Amino acid sequence: MTQDNHSKQLQLNLCVIGLGLIGASFAQSLKNHSLKHADKSPIAKITAVDADANSIRDGIAHGLLSLGSTSVYEGVAGADVIIIAVPVKAVPDVLTKINQAINDGKLRSDCIISDVSSTKMSILAAAKAVFGAIPATFVPAHPIAGAENSGFLARNADLFRYHKVIICPHDEVDANAVQVVKSLWQITGADVIQMDAKRHDDVLAYTSHLPHLLAFSLTHQMASHDDNLDIFRYAAGGFRDFSRIAASSPIMWHDIFLANKDALLDALDKYQSQLRDFQEMIEHEDSARLLQCLDTARQARRHFGHMLAKKTQPTAQKSNSSLDKRIGYDMNNQSYYISPRQNISGTISVPGDKSISHRCIMLGSLADGVSCVSGFLEGEDALATLQAFRDMGVKIERKGDKIIIHGVGIDGLKPANNPLYMGNSGTSMRLLAGILSAQAFDSVMTGDVSLSKRPMERVATPLRQMGAVIQTTGDRGTAPISITGNQTLQGINYTLPVASAQIKSCLILASLWANGTTTITEPEISRDHTERMLGAFGYPIHKDGNTISITGGGRLTATDIVVPADISSAAFFMVLGAIGGGEGLTINKVGMNPTRTGVIDILKLMRADISISNEKLIGGEPIADITVRPSDLHGIDIPEHLVPLAIDEFPVLFVAASCAIGTTKLTGAKELRVKESDRIQVMADGLTTLGIDCTVLDDGIIIYGKGVAGERNAVFGGGEIESHHDHRIAMSFAVASSRASDEIVIHGTQTVATSFPNFAQLANSVGLAISVK
Ligand code: S3P
Repeated sequence: MTQDNHSKQLQLNLCVIGLGLIGASFAQSLKNHSLKHADKSPIAKITAVDADANSIRDGIAHGLLSLGSTSVYEGVAGADVIIIAVPVKAVPDVLTKINQAINDGKLRSDCIISDVSSTKMSILAAAKAVFGAIPATFVPAHPIAGAENSGFLARNADLFRYHKVIICPHDEVDANAVQVVKSLWQITGADVIQMDAKRHDDVLAYTSHLPHLLAFSLTHQMASHDDNLDIFRYAAGGFRDFSRIAASSPIMWHDIFLANKDALLDALDKYQSQLRDFQEMIEHEDSARLLQCLDTARQARRHFGHMLAKKTQPTAQKSNSSLDKRIGYDMNNQSYYISPRQNISGTISVPGDKSISHRCIMLGSLADGVSCVSGFLEGEDALATLQAFRDMGVKIERKGDKIIIHGVGIDGLKPANNPLYMGNSGTSMRLLAGILSAQAFDSVMTGDVSLSKRPMERVATPLRQMGAVIQTTGDRGTAPISITGNQTLQGINYTLPVASAQIKSCLILASLWANGTTTITEPEISRDHTERMLGAFGYPIHKDGNTISITGGGRLTATDIVVPADISSAAFFMVLGAIGGGEGLTINKVGMNPTRTGVIDILKLMRADISISNEKLIGGEPIADITVRPSDLHGIDIPEHLVPLAIDEFPVLFVAASCAIGTTKLTGAKELRVKESDRIQVMADGLTTLGIDCTVLDDGIIIYGKGVAGERNAVFGGGEIESHHDHRIAMSFAVASSRASDEIVIHGTQTVATSFPNFAQLANSVGLAISVK
């Protein structure tokens, strides 16, 4: 193997030194993977070194190892990758033997060496001492996983699944070697992150070494007591929970405490001053501060518990009823295989509006009386909202094609038994954050992979200003979100940093329970369904230009709602009608709320042949039929004021722009980067795959259209597209197939069900050829 080959899917010889719990579990996980995916496995054979000949013998007998040895010098011969999984103090000796094997030509000098020790500075120092300089192919790593039982027989191929593995690259490290070590850990199901070695040691001193030291020292104090037997007899759950880790290996912890001496002593110093603080609070009976400290700690611990729960949370269960269905699309991958078809014609209806469907469940649940909703979108996003309110005690039934909501009144929600699972839905999570912040009970919200990456501080920050106690996760302020109930909210004046209907609606909803008036100003008008629907439920809300005011303390009165067809879903067919051949398309009874019609304005500017007919008002929202005929689209500079009014339609507008004559430029659309995916980058990647030139901007994109006047030429080639958990990416590339020369395959299309469950069927009924697999 050469350096260049490190990153490729090579057939590597892996040698694990130390067949304890970590080493043997790592080997077993890779072995299982290579048995399952022989064609994809980077591992040719696994060998091991262990002082215990029985472990080697068992490893070979169980088919885990091809070979093994009790000698490091002999056992590492011919290895491409060595993982050292011995106690930290034994690492220098192992490195010395590896060095001898290299010097004697038994082992290639560019072999990758990694370890699993829980201190990293001492390991780097040992490597430097043994090799003279830290080898470029030495990649320190630390899996944050363990178990009560140790040894070869306790091995568990799933030990690292959902656990973090920290890789600590040094200054001279070879990037390919890092990539190989990273890929191996990823195969075990671990979440691999990188960190500087010093920071690793500081962090671990607090999160692991100090707690172990405290557990050992407290238990030691009890054990040294004269009448310790009696004391242990009276010790209850608190002592049992706190001292559990003091039953771990003394040798291992002795080694770790000494190996991470500096960072641990520093953490211990700070902890001692923290203890003195507590001592003083108790001595002076400083109740207020003591309570506050205990409360802060409790909230932090509970949030930590929710983060842990989420790591292992299975995707929610499914049942036969679509209303009861919860979201499980991470588990069942789906792809579209689409053959090119150009003849597009027909008249269709698309499902109900997603934004309005969310809001009628929310307001209907909080109203006094029974509300009846027709045209509700039974997509997974709106169903996540529906399920959340059922979890909080609201009776919601389906009668024929209507949804009946038995409102519980403004103060009638009950705490859910489990964290509320919001699936892929940003609207559910952000709007509910406002409602939950004002409840008398604590709540937790979690979401799928895509939602768990999206920014939630944008709602948490203003909610905190109102007095909410709300915690997001990680440096980027994402889900899970923990909300502590029983707070008194105050009205605030808030200017939104971005035009966002979700932030605006979150604050409007929180202000229903706040003291006084909340005034919200948006930089640009965003969709106003919350404001309109509050009016329909009889709640006064004042609007003056871009500013909205709402006073807390009122009640909502149940009402019947008709949900119009979703213009965001219709947009796929508007673009399809314009770029495809055939007669074009008519989409019936589409919601035409002026805060949503940016897509029509943009398509018209691109000279699409669009006509609007049968304009009506239903339930306070305008609707109309939209007809779009095949058109010679032209590239334009999209006016920035239209961006919030077409915010969800850009993926499919990029497809339109690719078919246009000339260049289309979008700016002022940075928000697209924090949607279900980074829609600027993900679309640019997909368009490039299909042969479209584009330039990615920080806040937009330039697309060089390939349209030719008077022709329906194939502007896209074929190719494979990854939709990145984003329904609108998947549907947009499906539309592109009407101007493609070859098959387009789109992966991850199961997310289409979040907003448009019958998309493929409907698209095929007007001429596309989507085969769902
Ligand atoms: C939505 C608002 C928009 C939109 C989302 C639905 C809503 O998000 O992208 O699909 O229902 O309020 P932002 O308000 O964050 O732009």
